[in-house]
Amino acid sequence: MYKISDFKTPDRLNLDTDWSIGETAFERIATMLLQMSPVEKILEFGSGPSSIRLAMAFSEAQVVSVEGDWRNFAETMNLMQTFWDKRNLSIKYRPITLESYGDAEFLTYEDGVSWEEEIDCVIIDGPPVYTLRGREACLYQVYDQIKIGGLVILDDFRRSYEKQIVENWLSVYPGSFTVEMIREDHHLSVLRKIKSVTPCWDAPYRLSDVQSVSKMLARITKALSHVDNVYLSVLAKANNCYETDLMDLFNTLRNIYGVTPEHIQEFAGRNSTLPPDAQKRKQNACYMTIFNTFFRH
Ligand SMILES: C[S@@+](CC[C@H](N)C(=O)[O-])C[C@H]1O[C@@H](n2cnc3c(N)ncnc32)[C@H](O)[C@@H]1O
Repeated sequence: MYKISDFKTPDRLNLDTDWSIGETAFERIATMLLQMSPVEKILEFGSGPSSIRLAMAFSEAQVVSVEGDWRNFAETMNLMQTFWDKRNLSIKYRPITLESYGDAEFLTYEDGVSWEEEIDCVIIDGPPVYTLRGREACLYQVYDQIKIGGLVILDDFRRSYEKQIVENWLSVYPGSFTVEMIREDHHLSVLRKIKSVTPCWDAPYRLSDVQSVSKMLARITKALSHVDNVYLSVLAKANNCYETDLMDLFNTLRNIYGVTPEHIQEFAGRNSTLPPDAQKRKQNACYMTIFNTFFRH
């Protein structure tokens, strides 16, 4: 049997990085899963070194990891080819798109995959915070397939958005889960399914969140349409940061929010009658809207 303390891994599979789940958190997850043995199916949203580590640690289980970013997908595939050639791991590319659950729209992984077998554990570590409630929708995609006694583990529970996601789940599925928090690494919220219930989409608590998120998504889309590459280049120089990193981040955001160069040109055209100072102030305000929404939580 897998012994956590005996398991040495190459550096590239280390989980103590900004974007990975953390070694201690992983150890806690593995311990919980070992107590549930036999574990047959683990589903992960948001791939990375953790996908390979799960497949190594639970070599008798089938591990499926869903990825929405093609570069991260390529990186995880590369890790898999380098470190793990067994057939118990598959990485699925499903781009971020708008999906509806209970009449609300979510920027999340493309739906439409039917999970035939029951799932023992769902680990939700993606999509990134830029989608706001993208991780909430992951549970809506697979709730019916989760076994009674099965786990739903949400990473980054330190953030206010993830706390809100758990509140929303509990109001959509009243009485369906017990909840525990693990204060390790980025903090985990661990839900155990104790019974299946019919989703209660119109719970007032969740509905008020749906309205505020829909306004936030619209505000971010508009702000992204205002911030152009010339502004980003000046900003990067003024703040002594790498221009390519900032451009990369904004290209990822534009991609997720469906903001095209034509949208940006259209907004620039509308603002061209404003004096240069006012144009700059507007771009500054839009940049701060984006920054505060994603990085102050
Ligand atoms: C949080 S990572 C999942 C990591 C994985 N579960 C692990 O613990 O190894 C999920 C998402 O983060 C984003 N991501 C990963 N690495 C990134 C990086 N270095 N910079 C920006 N985004 C990144 C990608 O969009 C990816 O789909």
